[in-house]
Amino acid sequence: MLEAAMQGAQQAGADTELFQLYDLHYQGCKSCFACKLKGNNVNGLCAVKDELQPLLEKAVCADVLVIGSPVYDSFPTGMTRSFIERLVFPAVNYCDYASPKIRKPIQCACIYTMNAPENLMQPLRYDTILGENCRVLGIFGGKPEMLCSHETYQFNDYSRYETAVEESVRADIRANRFPHDLQKAFELGKRLVQKAKE
Ligand SMILES: Cc1cc2nc3c(=O)[nH]c(=O)nc-3n(C[C@H](O)[C@H](O)[C@H](O)COP(=O)(O)O)c2cc1C
Repeated sequence: MLEAAMQGAQQAGADTELFQLYDLHYQGCKSCFACKLKGNNVNGLCAVKDELQPLLEKAVCADVLVIGSPVYDSFPTGMTRSFIERLVFPAVNYCDYASPKIRKPIQCACIYTMNAPENLMQPLRYDTILGENCRVLGIFGGKPEMLCSHETYQFNDYSRYETAVEESVRADIRANRFPHDLQKAFELGKRLVQKAKE
């Protein structure tokens, strides 16, 4: 899904980079408040120097930021949350939550993949839970978008795993619906770059 979004962004003229959060060693915010010290020189960036730091610097300099995560136990992954904590908290003015220190708008989006079907989004409160990351990313000045891909094809060989899911149903979704999800991701990437240019 992220690769499709990148292709859309490229078609709109953007240079793109994909990062795998799971390749990096980092933790969430440790509440050191170095980013909130009076007279600090971190300039809206997390003060913790670890493998996430270069990515945070790139993220705040980007025109567009698309974050992809599977849904784990009803939430975006912990790695995703930790990244967003470290990205967002230093960028907010603690006295006035609505005022970002990072001035340039960053057009943001979150892409989620999940087992659940679309009609369970509301009953499981996923629209609210997953929507929260978009809400907080709004401090970067854009109107963050959310895109979900449901009922993903989870295993290469369904016969080896315990699951209530019918392989044939998921294979059909993978073959016939997933390409539309990829197209939506492509259009999302393209749209965000176009918005960034406006
Ligand atoms: C630890 C774990 C927890 C999961 N919890 C949920 C869940 O609460 N809801 C859901 O719809 N899918 C859940 N899933 C399924 C994943 O969201 C699904 O397999 C997703 O497509 C994986 O993303 P990927 O295909 O992009 O790797 C879970 C999977 C794992 C491994």
